[in-house]
Amino acid sequence: MAGRVQDKVAVVVGGGQTPGETIGNGKATSLLLAHEGARVLVVDADLARAQQTVDKIRAEGGEAEAMAADIREEDQVRAFIEAAVERFGGLDLLHNNVGGSVGIGDAPATDLSVEGWDRIFQINLRGMWLACKWAIPVMQEQGGGSIVNISSMAARHAYPWVGYKTSKMGVIGLTEQLAGQYAPDLIRVNAILPGLMNTPMAIEARVNAGMPRDEVVASRNARIPLGGMMGSGWDVAYAALFLHSDEAQFITGVSLPVDGGMGVG
Ligand SMILES: NC(=O)c1ccc[n+]([C@@H]2O[C@H](COP(=O)([O-])OP(=O)(O)OC[C@H]3O[C@@H](n4cnc5c(N)ncnc54)[C@H](O)[C@@H]3O)[C@@H](O)[C@H]2O)c1
Repeated sequence: MAGRVQDKVAVVVGGGQTPGETIGNGKATSLLLAHEGARVLVVDADLARAQQTVDKIRAEGGEAEAMAADIREEDQVRAFIEAAVERFGGLDLLHNNVGGSVGIGDAPATDLSVEGWDRIFQINLRGMWLACKWAIPVMQEQGGGSIVNISSMAARHAYPWVGYKTSKMGVIGLTEQLAGQYAPDLIRVNAILPGLMNTPMAIEARVNAGMPRDEVVASRNARIPLGGMMGSGWDVAYAALFLHSDEAQFITGVSLPVDGGMGVG
């Protein structure tokens, strides 16, 4: 039986993961797209992380390749878009997962340095735009494609650090702008807004900052209306699979919360 993204070429940017006890959003999405028939170029600043994802995909019978690139560097972004076309013959799905907050030096508005602001925007917003910049002409040439950008429910809620909040709001703006502009080219562009997820990126940063793991997990679980439990990387992955698949062919420009009802609780 054909998978839900059978034979599509996917690029997952940030498809490795922060080491930890659970699975990250980008790794889960890479695995699920491959499981559903896509050929996946897993891109990460850390090649070993990308390779771990690829090894798991291949062990499960899927097709994937790893590539190192830093989304702050335009020539490296251009190189991975071109590599997808060269290695797999096209580019159907671009999944922009890279993002960071306190782990990359975010702070309240009165404490953040100009360098910190610029770093966060380069990683969280400018890199997504650069990947779109180089992917869109390929998709135009092919007659369509799907882009999913990972924002955050921090864009909707009160959030203590200014760089993450504003850059993730920027991701929604970028998504809507591109969705409107490139709809005639049949390029769909959507955003996912994860809430509190039980991923290494979220948990390990706080544990490393000295908070007991049990407390970090319990306090985050307590804030979730749907069952009192954080989501996982798989919840983000299944939302991404739907948005990237042809099942969502009439959906573009949306910002989909994956938050266990936190936005309405
Ligand atoms: N976990 C949560 O609770 C949560 C909530 C809301 C939103 N998000 C969003 O989810 C996304 C990440 O989730 P994840 O679980 O996959 O994180 P992760 O840290 O496990 O994976 C992200 C990967 O991106 C790579 N990366 C970092 N900087 C890079 C760069 N400059 N160029 C290329 N690669 C780079 C890292 O090496 C890492 O492997 C982010 O956009 C984050 O803002 C997460």
